[in-house]
Amino acid sequence: MKKEIKIITKNWGRINPNQIEEYIAAGGYRALRKFVAEMSPQSVLEEIKTSGLCGRGGAGFPTGRKLECVASEKSKEKYFICNLDESEPGTYKDRSIVDNDPHMLLEGIIIGALAVGARKAFIYINGNYQKEIEILERAVEQAQEKDFIGENILGSKYGLEMELFAGAGAYICGEETALINSIEGNRGEPKARPPYPTQCGLFGQPTAINNAETITNIPWIIENGGKAYAKIGSKKSPGTKLFIVNGAVENPDVFEAPLGIKLVDLIGKYAGGIQAGKDFWFAQIGGSSGRLAMEKDLKLKLEYDCEAKIPLGSGAVLVVDKTADIHELLLSWTGFFRRESCGKCVPCREGTFRLWEIAKRLQDGEVSERDVAAIQDILWTLNNTTFCPLGKFAATAFSDALDNFRDEIYKISK
Ligand SMILES: Cc1cc2nc3c(=O)[nH]c(=O)nc-3n(C[C@H](O)[C@H](O)[C@H](O)COP(=O)(O)O)c2cc1C
Ligand code: SF4
Repeated sequence: MKKEIKIITKNWGRINPNQIEEYIAAGGYRALRKFVAEMSPQSVLEEIKTSGLCGRGGAGFPTGRKLECVASEKSKEKYFICNLDESEPGTYKDRSIVDNDPHMLLEGIIIGALAVGARKAFIYINGNYQKEIEILERAVEQAQEKDFIGENILGSKYGLEMELFAGAGAYICGEETALINSIEGNRGEPKARPPYPTQCGLFGQPTAINNAETITNIPWIIENGGKAYAKIGSKKSPGTKLFIVNGAVENPDVFEAPLGIKLVDLIGKYAGGIQAGKDFWFAQIGGSSGRLAMEKDLKLKLEYDCEAKIPLGSGAVLVVDKTADIHELLLSWTGFFRRESCGKCVPCREGTFRLWEIAKRLQDGEVSERDVAAIQDILWTLNNTTFCPLGKFAATAFSDALDNFRDEIYKISK
């Protein structure tokens, strides 16, 4: 294997995440010092744009462009939000950043927030992640003591307040407009866009919302330059990515690999290959909302590409072997979306519930002709008529499973 490139995980296992001194001794907060001493907010944005960094929260939107939109707004009040909701089943990359190196994330938040002109940053975290909440509380306190957060950061004109906001633990609150509603004290459900948060976000002010992993790349980019970052990974989406490989592999874990890596290499070279005695059936890419990659897709490049057949999403890869029960999988996917539908729009509220009911009947071998016809209608409705992408997400894996395993699914199994 080629020499591994480590950006986000370079300190993992080597420093104590609860000791800011250890992060500093490993070169931490050097990027913030460089920004304060030598750079302007505009030059930070230029470096991020040059790097080609794109969002790791799922959609792969260019980060530099998003930050520049917020920076160009005239408003005096602006906000920067780190999205650490991470409620997708099988996804724990953002929490792993906190568990292993919380200060790299904080350093990225501080630089990103100051670059867009925000004086207040929020970290929005799922309230069930108590361990990570405690680590972050301690880290923010330590960064304040060292003058990295607060008024006149490192003696400069810059100031930043940072607040940790624990949500109630809903998947929809990872969606940026629902997240804003949640911080504002409203019901956690999506808002119509436009206007986009970059113009009219938290409390009606321009707001940058980025995924925790996206933000954690910023210190490296500022220290080493956008050009150096752009040379890593794939042309379409430079850099490395945290992949969470679960399921029927020898070594399930979080791995940092260059974007553009082939699925077969991620499974074989990083996750130790398929478990002994098991055969690859398919892999689900991007969590419960992700599409299914079959054996013929193993050479697929994992990168952010709007034309990709299989979107990368959060980077979760669930490897499923041939002993798995497709009916159980259908029930687990539909059960998740039924539970997590926020209820705001009828097609998703009803559609996710009906699909779950039919999945139960499929498992019990009680599926009727009417159900078979209804499945097509429900999948179409979820795909085409729901208010936010969660509806589409609820249909994705079910549709792929039907396309590939129709006979197994409709076989009366019990
Ligand atoms: C249903 C749903 C759930 C989402 N959950 C998350 C999440 O947990 N974390 C996250 O960073 N983005 C999540 N997103 C994407 C966010 O809306 C937003 O695009 C992202 O935080 C932007 O950051 P990025 O540009 O750095 O990727 C979700 C989107 C949807 C539709
Ligand atoms: S699609 Fe689902 S999650 Fe999105 S607004 Fe409608 S009910 Fe809520």
